[in-house]
Amino acid sequence: MRRKRLGGQSPLGHAIEASPPIHGHGGSILIAMPFDPTNSHDVIVASHSGPLFGEVVVPGAKNSVLKLMAATLLADGTYRLTNVPVIDDVDIMADLLEALGLRITKIAAPRGEVGQHLEIVNSGAIRPVAPFELADRIRASVNVVGPLLGRFGEIDIALPGGDDFGGRPIDMHLRGLEAMGAVFDVTSDGIVGRCQRLRGADIEFDFPSVGATENMLMASVVAEGTTTLRNAAREPEIVDLCEMLKKMGCRIEGVGTSNLVIHGVLPSTLQSVTHCVVTDRVQAATYVAAVAMCGGSIRIERAVAEHMGMMLSRFTDMGISFQIDPAGIVATAPQRLSSIDVATLPYPGVATDYKPLVVAMLSIAQGVGIVTENLYPGRFRYVEELRKLGADISIDGHHAVVRGVDHLRGASVVAPDIRAGAALVVAGLAAQGMTEISDVFHIDRGYDDIVGRLAGLGASVTRIRPEN
Ligand code: UD1
Repeated sequence: MRRKRLGGQSPLGHAIEASPPIHGHGGSILIAMPFDPTNSHDVIVASHSGPLFGEVVVPGAKNSVLKLMAATLLADGTYRLTNVPVIDDVDIMADLLEALGLRITKIAAPRGEVGQHLEIVNSGAIRPVAPFELADRIRASVNVVGPLLGRFGEIDIALPGGDDFGGRPIDMHLRGLEAMGAVFDVTSDGIVGRCQRLRGADIEFDFPSVGATENMLMASVVAEGTTTLRNAAREPEIVDLCEMLKKMGCRIEGVGTSNLVIHGVLPSTLQSVTHCVVTDRVQAATYVAAVAMCGGSIRIERAVAEHMGMMLSRFTDMGISFQIDPAGIVATAPQRLSSIDVATLPYPGVATDYKPLVVAMLSIAQGVGIVTENLYPGRFRYVEELRKLGADISIDGHHAVVRGVDHLRGASVVAPDIRAGAALVVAGLAAQGMTEISDVFHIDRGYDDIVGRLAGLGASVTRIRPEN
């Protein structure tokens, strides 16, 4: 068995010849549809909101469901994913998987559930060529590489898109798969990969990359022999993927730790399953941020406190109090938030995805807080938008120094990405006057009805579609 240490420079490039997505299966309630550009001019209008009260139910995690969907490439059969968030990235991933040959039906969740169900049929007729225009739209498109190479020994895909936080290389994905026997041709058009059956390898990541861990997992479960992944990422969404793979018949040890040992099996021994997507911890934290900035006390149903441990502890340092039970958490705002210093880190550290929320909260907290970004140097682009609301934030390299002001004031701002967009909506609720957030299509990629959920808590927020 070979041992390979991973890391280094990115093989970035773009554009691959498009092939048309396959649609048109019927007989069900809803069918996966391409991205709807008609909502791209929508704006969210948030007005100063008093204390929030009531209950919000959080659906499944974007960062889990997209990988669970990719995992269905591994074995034939009919899968059902439940607790699936109603978000655009699920639609884009569904289109991508349909273009590869899966059939996906969206089914409204039964009464008492949130989100939707996905029925995914894998008949084995897979064409491992991912159309550029779909792969380019989401980061998670790269997660089809592992299962496709593992099962079919072939992949042709554009380099992945997604939120623009600066460079987002995939060198660790490719080097890991190379260590297992894959050969890649990386050009400005994308990636073409080939292999015989992948072989187990001993791999140590330089950095616990979420995406690389997931790709290596999905490749190694059907490889010949045993694969060890050291310094692997261990986010709750990766545990969720491992749980589904194990139900399918995959043999994985060390789930939830940074050392994963995977004993490969033949794809023909795997079976399709039903799986409930883990709760979205970032959406849950968004509602904590909302009550923290507006005041009040809310119940966040389905939030899993254990998955948010470090973040909840830092929120507690800011003065928010929590009551935790197995079904959710109650978050109660202090009179005024206190400033803290916080640094983003891989799980179990404070996730980079929480950071725009924390910066927004600090902008009206008592004192000065320093936020350090350790994952994506470019992930401070929304600061300019928060400044338009009156926030006092200066950037020094990968640190943001946030001096709390007494109040924010409404303005027109632009959502630069999913999480920053949500943070601007929440900040708008705390700002005096009216805040108009445009480019909400970013928010739609990862948030399931944020406006309806906030309004349900008493927030003054609405979504409008400007006339042409
Ligand atoms: C996932 C999440 C994203 C989250 C991030 C970190 C999805 C769809 N997205 O992204 O919301 O912010 O985890 O928690 O699940 N890196 C390399 N080479 C690689 C892979 C990554 O240098 O081959 C670097 C990245 O540029 C980044 C860091 O490692 O600086 C973390 O990336 P990674 O953990 O892989 O994040 P994603 O899986 O892309």
